[in-house]
Amino acid sequence: VNISYNDTKKDLPVEQLHYLFVTAGWSDSETPPLNILENFNRPFIDSTLVISAWEDERLVGTVRVLSDKFIRSVIYDLVIDPEYQGKGIGAELVKRCIAHYPNSEWLVGCLKNVASFYEKIGFKVDTNCEVFLSIPSIYQRSE
Ligand SMILES: CC(C)(COP(=O)(O)OP(=O)(O)OC[C@H]1O[C@@H](n2cnc3c(N)ncnc32)[C@H](O)[C@@H]1OP(=O)(O)O)[C@@H](O)C(=O)NCCC(=O)NCCS
Repeated sequence: VNISYNDTKKDLPVEQLHYLFVTAGWSDSETPPLNILENFNRPFIDSTLVISAWEDERLVGTVRVLSDKFIRSVIYDLVIDPEYQGKGIGAELVKRCIAHYPNSEWLVGCLKNVASFYEKIGFKVDTNCEVFLSIPSIYQRSE
């Protein structure tokens, strides 16, 4: 496949972005309320860096980064269309992120079964961090 990468476009098409999140299991609704769908790319628009992978007009992968562009950068929402997984696109997206701020510390939180993907790219499990604490967003809180 002929994949092109875009590291400047942040306003990704919301339907295609939502489709990727459904395939990743991060969005459970096939048809979200319009106000959710139309804001689906907002976290990307307000991120420091967004890199997307395309086959022609089809969005096949994304990643976004929150970074101070100096000391610390955090990876979010790395997702590849299942039809395009296993072709090196995920690794390429992460490598391109790191190339933007190569001197920065890089952090990512992921499920255990994805850790070895990041380890192949050079990440190590951070044993200094014994617990990871959070307050869920309003969108994650169960009724
Ligand atoms: C995890 C994910 C991003 C990997 O992207 P991908 O494009 O399929 O991965 P690549 O083809 O670039 O794989 C690079 C290497 O990692 C390995 N790898 C791929 N997915 C892996 C996984 N889930 N666990 C462990 N290793 C994995 C590949 O075998 C490959 O190894 P190789 O270089 O020895 O051949 C993709 O499977 C995905 O979108 N999953 C669903 C969403 C998700 O879990 N995202 C991570 C959130 S933090």
